[in-house]
Amino acid sequence: MQRSDGSVVGIGYGGDGGDGGDRKDIVLSILIPTYNESENIPQLLRSIRDGLHSLLKQLDAKAEIIIVDDDSPDGTADVAEGYSTSIRDEGRLSVKVLRRYGKRGLLSAVLDGLKTAQGSNVVVMDADLSHPPALIPVMLDELMHDRCDLVIASRYVDGGSVENWSMKRKALSISANMIARMILNLDVKDAVSGFFACKRWILEGIEFTTSGYKILLEVLVKVDNIRVKEIPYTFVNRCHGKSKFSTKIAIEYLRAVWLLYRYGRKRRRGERRGSVLFLSRAARFYTVGATGLLVNYGSASLASMLTNMHIATLVGILCSITSNFILNKLWTFEDTDLAVIYTLKQYSYYMGLSSVGGALQFLLTYLLNHIYGMQYNLALLIAIGLASTWNFLSNKKWTFKERIWG
Ligand code: GDD
Ligand code: MN
Repeated sequence: MQRSDGSVVGIGYGGDGGDGGDRKDIVLSILIPTYNESENIPQLLRSIRDGLHSLLKQLDAKAEIIIVDDDSPDGTADVAEGYSTSIRDEGRLSVKVLRRYGKRGLLSAVLDGLKTAQGSNVVVMDADLSHPPALIPVMLDELMHDRCDLVIASRYVDGGSVENWSMKRKALSISANMIARMILNLDVKDAVSGFFACKRWILEGIEFTTSGYKILLEVLVKVDNIRVKEIPYTFVNRCHGKSKFSTKIAIEYLRAVWLLYRYGRKRRRGERRGSVLFLSRAARFYTVGATGLLVNYGSASLASMLTNMHIATLVGILCSITSNFILNKLWTFEDTDLAVIYTLKQYSYYMGLSSVGGALQFLLTYLLNHIYGMQYNLALLIAIGLASTWNFLSNKKWTFKERIWG
């Protein structure tokens, strides 16, 4: 099969020897990404068959296993195809082997598998027997009885655990999970589980934007109002083959959390009412302005000990403009785009617009006081009010690219 991105994907079918059977009969697609798992495949397939046997019989339904292999040098795909006939279970279970060329990653393997999946429910799991196949019928049962929409096999609920992991790997997993739960505000115990089941439409409705390991994380962040259930299991470290976990994957993970955090924030922002947003931005902007006075005074006093008065005044002004800019970017306007060139450009806009504000204040005070004979203090107050309003609105629009209202 020739794909739009130019790569070639081959699919081999086994088990029921055809198109996987009548669509409406398939209650479950088990998506398994593989890379060098030939030693684990036989036991994996047998355990899945044995685990599902009675439930499929009782439901009079079919299930399919979709192995998505990235051209493993150890012949994983061939081994899987070789076993497909022996696990047919009277035609109730089929094995599709999707061969991709080049090692292209876990997430995209699952998504490619999903494209060919026909079951109304899907399970995503690893091939290395770390995820006990005996749990699959329990998960399916939950979904079939409509007790929830997503079942997470969880290491961190009561009764769940991890066996034979090094302290380092344990610590990594626990911190990865903590980071995700806190930053993304998730109400599940094992947000980074690689073993879960859900209705197929849930996965199909998501536009996945991160790469790497964290399929479940993206589901939890992007799908609203689904009923999630966690069931405990013991993660057993693989006996055969090697884990593909690496520093690169850890970095990709942090990037994924960051992207999902931004995604969530954008969405929440979209939900907020314009008036609420405008007022909260204004309140923050003026608070930052007040801190700027302190920074201005503090840094100028410090500088005056080292240099002459004029330079010290200038230092004070520069320091307060800079600290105001940083606080306004990160806090007032919640701008998370920290690209250097972009930020410098914003900084120069900020300086420019604030200088216009300064000039405006100067001019207004002069006009009101000298020409209209207004009392100096009152003139100053009005000028500061107008200049800071200019600063807020113009920076909102041009520096931080927001609409004036909202
Ligand atoms: N097709 C394909 N392509 N499969 C891959 C690739 C790839 O590039 N990399 C890994 N896999 C397959 C493996 O063959 C295995 O079946 C599964 O993806 C998980 O890979 P492991 O290398 O065994 O991952 P792990 O044990 O370190 O991590 C697992 O546990 C984590 C829990 O902390 C995964 O399940 C993670 O998703 C999970 O977060
Ligand atoms: Mn593993």
